[in-house]
Amino acid sequence: MTELLIKNTTLVQIREPNISILKGNNFQTLPILENAWIHCQNDRILDYGTMENCPDVRGQVIDATGRYVFPSWCDSHTHLVFAAYREQEFVQRISGMSYAEIAASGGGILNSARRLRAMPEAELFQAAHQRLKQLIASGTGAIEIKSGYGLSAAGELKMLRVIKRLKAVSPIPVKASFLGAHALPAEFKEDRKGYMDLLINELLPVIVEEELADYVDIFCEKGFFSVAEAERMMEAGNKYELRAKIHTNQFNSMGGIEAAIAHKALSVDHLEVVNEAEISALINANVIPTLLPSAPFFLSDHYPPARQLIDAGLPVTLASDFNPGTSPSGKMAFVVALACIKMKMLPDEAINAATLNGAAAMELEKDYGSITKGKIANLFITKPMPSVAYIPYGFTEEIVDRIVINGQLSAKELV
Ligand code: NIG
Ligand code: FE
Repeated sequence: MTELLIKNTTLVQIREPNISILKGNNFQTLPILENAWIHCQNDRILDYGTMENCPDVRGQVIDATGRYVFPSWCDSHTHLVFAAYREQEFVQRISGMSYAEIAASGGGILNSARRLRAMPEAELFQAAHQRLKQLIASGTGAIEIKSGYGLSAAGELKMLRVIKRLKAVSPIPVKASFLGAHALPAEFKEDRKGYMDLLINELLPVIVEEELADYVDIFCEKGFFSVAEAERMMEAGNKYELRAKIHTNQFNSMGGIEAAIAHKALSVDHLEVVNEAEISALINANVIPTLLPSAPFFLSDHYPPARQLIDAGLPVTLASDFNPGTSPSGKMAFVVALACIKMKMLPDEAINAATLNGAAAMELEKDYGSITKGKIANLFITKPMPSVAYIPYGFTEEIVDRIVINGQLSAKELV
């Protein structure tokens, strides 16, 4: 049995087990406990309280005076598996080309697909595993990873098998989403239906058989996939009990949100462009709006109307969108900072969105996302800092000092 006691600390995001996704008043408040201790036994949180009643624990004891203990970040939207970064496109954009122009000229997602198809599975795995370790060291304690840079039967299966291997070796939970419909590959330029048929009739049954995905995804956007195609993908997923998490409303509002609601999607992600009618539709739906502010930051685009979504009482969620084209960073502390600086989310709200709501957007809220008795002990201990708001305020500072994964304190380098 392993025992870990962290004492003289401030605990952040303490919730009762019945609190799952945060919206309304719960979203706007972040419960903390000062002058506190937390006791982890094996991989779970056993108990916590204030220092007057600190237990005598035989095991590892950490004095965290001046430091905070957070539940690890829950990053519900990443494209962590890719073959190469795309810094040349970054330079092209600085010189005036748009993301859409680069994509239309064979760059963008198709560029990543060419590189990924050429890379052996073992190398792809090594590179993604390295990135995953770095993210864990930066405080991430649960993650979703998408396919979508294969864009062929072999390429997509290779990616999904890499994600499955990551699941097997990762100390944190990994959820996989099948994003075969990320861009139309050049071979199918004249045959959109043929590509959708390939994804749905040929690939999906194999993916289900080999248990390679937890969700289906599609990039529903002008120049990529239509609402009708998104509906078809979501219906196909639902037949296999794979819910959808979809990319929609990044550049245009074209009906993706309504379709996601109708098909009982788990989340709608991006929402840089969202109108009143779509916000009203989300109010009565059970679909999680997930915002990815690193993408508009990196593209110098405009940000989702987070305040409007929050004021409508929606359970706003934040994720990194880590990918080589529009967000070459998976640092959730920076995502939280952007949410505050660019979308006017309050620090407490941003932290709620990046922890418990992120867990809910991966259906992991029963075990992750908050300091709750009985949950898995995935936590991080900060450097000494004056308050919770210091995290987004000190936006370039490495504030995560030590991490606890499955109740085990790790030196960050050793993860
Ligand atoms: O979430 N929007 C679509 N997919 C990614 C970008 C992928 C890429 O450019 O490689 C995103 O931003
Ligand atoms: Fe994405």
